[in-house]
Amino acid sequence: MADSIIAVAGLTKRFGPVLAVDGLDFSVDQGEVCGMLGPNGAGKTTTLRMLVGLIFPDAGEARLLGHNVRPGDEALRRVGVMIEESAFVPYLNGITNLRLWWEAGGAPWSDADVETALSVAGLGDAVRRKVKTYSQGMKQRLGIARALLSRPDVLVLDEPTSGLDPGEMREVRQLLRRVSEQGTTVLLSSHLLSEVEQVCTNAVVMDKGKLVASGAVAELIGAGGSVYIEVTNVRRATSTLKKLKGVRRVIPEPPGLAVELDGIKRSEVVAALVHAGVGVETVTARHQLEDAFLGLVGEA
Ligand SMILES: Nc1ncnc2c1ncn2[C@@H]1O[C@H](COP(=O)(O)OP(=O)(O)O)[C@@H](O)[C@H]1O
Ligand SMILES: [Mg+2]
Repeated sequence: MADSIIAVAGLTKRFGPVLAVDGLDFSVDQGEVCGMLGPNGAGKTTTLRMLVGLIFPDAGEARLLGHNVRPGDEALRRVGVMIEESAFVPYLNGITNLRLWWEAGGAPWSDADVETALSVAGLGDAVRRKVKTYSQGMKQRLGIARALLSRPDVLVLDEPTSGLDPGEMREVRQLLRRVSEQGTTVLLSSHLLSEVEQVCTNAVVMDKGKLVASGAVAELIGAGGSVYIEVTNVRRATSTLKKLKGVRRVIPEPPGLAVELDGIKRSEVVAALVHAGVGVETVTARHQLEDAFLGLVGEA
């Protein structure tokens, strides 16, 4: 934990009656792209805001580069942050917006790593166009470019693809890969499973402020967790499966059932159902990350 770039322990934040973050623990090591995955209201933004010192925890701590960050903390010089939607001056072009923002921080423009930020953002000649002509995805990429100007060791991004169409999301995912290839450690939040699967090396799944699962994405995906099935008779299927050896749990997930497997093959589950006179309409293999996340949001 001492060597982690980000170390969160017992982190807790309450807003009146709402326990937004509830005893959260996780860490992010050098070079990881960690996805904080959870449904809306899970406490992702609140966690990120505590991490960068925008708000303070009620209990526990969120350490970034070894610091419990306070406003103006020197550790923030090594961190690129995009939490609230990035605001730009609409009638100025992209590059001028970056420069104004940078110089407002008091540093000379010649210190900014404009070249890297722009090449990673992949905006091309559009950086010379007024920002009011940008798509949402371009604004988002300009926001990430802005966070990269200081050559940060760590990038903290809240829902970097939120509000984007599929093509724009792909652009941002590619951008994040380029950032990571340069050795920057990334912590991003997302409410999209596919996004975390595609860009992240590690995942922290949270719900209602609490940690649900965490680990390397490859391991979370590799572990054969369960099977989701849709059947003609849910009640009979449930009672059949509960009696079946090698089935750990049967969880209703309308319109189907999630069946946690412990030493039984998916084909054996199907065979047992058919034998009991239950028609099987859909069988979907799932891995642990899907289990952890889809169980929360009730998707199938
Ligand atoms: N400033 C605030 N005042 C009151 N409640 C808040 C505030 N910020 C967040 N919350 C509440 O805390 C919970 C977690 O919110 P948030 O961290 O924004 O979740 P997420 O980013 O995962 O969608 C939600 O119930 C939200 O309504
Ligand atoms: Mg949020």
